[in-house]
Amino acid sequence: MKQFIDLRSDTITKPTEAMRKVMYEAEVGDDVYKEDPTANELERYAAELLGKEAALYVTSGVMGNQICLNVLTQPGDEVICEKDAHIFQYESGSPAWLSGIQMGLVEGVRGVFTAEQIKPYIRPASAYYMARTKVIEIENTHNRAGGTINPIENIKAINALAKENSLYMHLDGARIWNASVASGVEVKEYAKYFDSVSCCLSKGLGAPIGSIIAGSKDFIKQAFRVRKALGGGMRQVGIIASAGLYALKNNISRLSEDHEKAKMLAATINKLESLEIDMERVQTNILIFKAKNMSLEDALARTKEKGLLLSEGTVGSMRAVIHMDVSFEQTEKACKILEEVFGK
Ligand SMILES: Cc1ncc(COP(=O)(O)O)c(C=O)c1O
Repeated sequence: MKQFIDLRSDTITKPTEAMRKVMYEAEVGDDVYKEDPTANELERYAAELLGKEAALYVTSGVMGNQICLNVLTQPGDEVICEKDAHIFQYESGSPAWLSGIQMGLVEGVRGVFTAEQIKPYIRPASAYYMARTKVIEIENTHNRAGGTINPIENIKAINALAKENSLYMHLDGARIWNASVASGVEVKEYAKYFDSVSCCLSKGLGAPIGSIIAGSKDFIKQAFRVRKALGGGMRQVGIIASAGLYALKNNISRLSEDHEKAKMLAATINKLESLEIDMERVQTNILIFKAKNMSLEDALARTKEKGLLLSEGTVGSMRAVIHMDVSFEQTEKACKILEEVFGK
């Protein structure tokens, strides 16, 4: 079978031997009764890491985001988010479907909007004929913008605006670990400005399944009920929660290696005349770039032929995502393949 260098996504990683061992040996119990010691420990550890009162293990990033939005809103409410936010683009329309809420879209620069930009979109509380603005959502890092980091000072300013207007803040921190490692800002410090946080264990951190949501005790109590209603109450969940706990304890700081590899690949892309990349977006592990003289289909097919798998990024662009199953050697090989395909 042909061996591919697979850069389609950081979700394709497989559990390591050490992670599988921990899964095999995990102590378990019925988590619907809150009797799974491993899930309980994961939730305790994650809450501490995020500086929140409580946390809850959920099956996926989408479930995490949607439970949080459901708890924070009522039908007829509006959530302000960036126009390319995952909750708007890639969650099957679930805000409307599951919570009866709508999105208010604001266009940011490289996925980042400012308090000034958001201000005019906050609907006056007296306007009974409008949707009610209830939440400001921030995605950090921003997937479709190319793994860009939302600066902490910007988040603070948005938080002040939210407070002035009695709005909640939700963080889609699927890759908050990448933001933290790249910026040096602790995850706790990012999380501090949000009422609810959702973050993934199954992306850069290499766990096979699962996300964490965190917030106040009361928030998590409500989230527990919504999780059950969505069919997300699992039983001997320690089998997979153990992998999440292992990932949090072992795989955060190594993300700097992924960022280094992404920079190597970006440098090659940047020097190739027939490729186009915005180097200001190269901040973590996601690269978005375009072929100037080749269709997207051709570009993806030709790189695949040479053993490199890329995916489709935002409109007409390619996406390469570095993750823990890609070695430095494979990154060098990927650079060579790009030179062979796009170098003429
Ligand atoms: C920013 C962001 N949020 C949420 C998700 C959803 O995660 P999941 O695929 O685990 O549902 C993703 C998935 O790629 C993502 O990139």
